Amino acid sequence: MDTDSSPADSGADGTVPVESTASSVALVTGGTRGIGRALAAEFAADGVDLVLVARTEAPLERVAVDLETRYDVVVEPIAVDLADPAAPKVVHDRVRELDLAVEVLVNNAAMATYGAFAAGDLDAERRLLRCNVEAPIALTRRFLPAMLERGRGAITNVASTAGFRPGPQMASYHASKAHLVSFTESLAEECRGSGVSVTAICPGPVATGIHEDCGRGSTWLERRFMLSPDQVAASGYRAIERGDVIAIPGYRNRIIPTLVRVLPGVLRRRLGEWVTTPGVMPKRR
Ligand SMILES: NC(=O)c1ccc[n+]([C@@H]2O[C@H](COP(=O)([O-])OP(=O)(O)OC[C@H]3O[C@@H](n4cnc5c(N)ncnc54)[C@H](OP(=O)(O)O)[C@@H]3O)[C@@H](O)[C@H]2O)c1
Repeated sequence: MDTDSSPADSGADGTVPVESTASSVALVTGGTRGIGRALAAEFAADGVDLVLVARTEAPLERVAVDLETRYDVVVEPIAVDLADPAAPKVVHDRVRELDLAVEVLVNNAAMATYGAFAAGDLDAERRLLRCNVEAPIALTRRFLPAMLERGRGAITNVASTAGFRPGPQMASYHASKAHLVSFTESLAEECRGSGVSVTAICPGPVATGIHEDCGRGSTWLERRFMLSPDQVAASGYRAIERGDVIAIPGYRNRIIPTLVRVLPGVLRRRLGEWVTTPGVMPKRR
């Protein structure tokens, strides 16, 4: 059941009513760790109030208090699982209840699975797709109309260089990031001249827990290209400010996407395997 398309909370033409006296915020999904937390800190350091979304309440509260104390901003935590199809509506309803206007939406939260697809857990793949693809689309659909009406705003999708190449053993994750890259480019063109920018931040490997969490670890190649969440967030934040459409933090991480464009398919797929599968490339100290 699509619990995120109730006509009761949409206008007659399907649009969402625009907030009126609302105060402006940036909404960051997955804002409690890794890249999301570092991006939230960039906004807070600029004096921007925040809404942070993640599943687990304790870190949400902890990060909210930390940012409020350090930067004198207001941070509203919302605890939901974005793999639940009802979550985008819950987030949107809460934002309206708080009378906030989302000026910047950062779709950052993501889940990863690792292993041969044929032996994988279909339910985990479905949850990944709902969190990485469906939730960004649904949140964008809910917050974009008000941005267009105000004539300003920014949608940011945290994709990945994984979106530019296949990733054997991580087929759904790579496909979800390819979706975000393509969605971003199309939407950026639809929004051209509207005052609303649409950006895909496409990091290469970043030192966070996401890969260990899905039981993978990092590969020889990834360790050579690894950036910190703070480096990615600083570069991504500048890209949002400039309104770049595709932003790849770190010049070295632009090599593989550039190479992939000119490689024949068979080599592109093999390169994907070297990058994603630990143990395929030689280990060096
Ligand atoms: N790390 C990398 O190497 C890398 C490279 C390229 C792109 N990226 C992308 O960067 C983004 C952030 O990744 P990261 O490495 O910083 O991840 P991370 O350290 O694992 O943090 C993930 C964040 O998302 C939240 N989250 C996860 N699943 C969720 C769900 N179902 N519903 C709501 N919130 C959820 C987590 O909080 P809870 O667990 O409490 O929900 C946490 O705040 C992702 O889009 C990822 O694909 C990462």
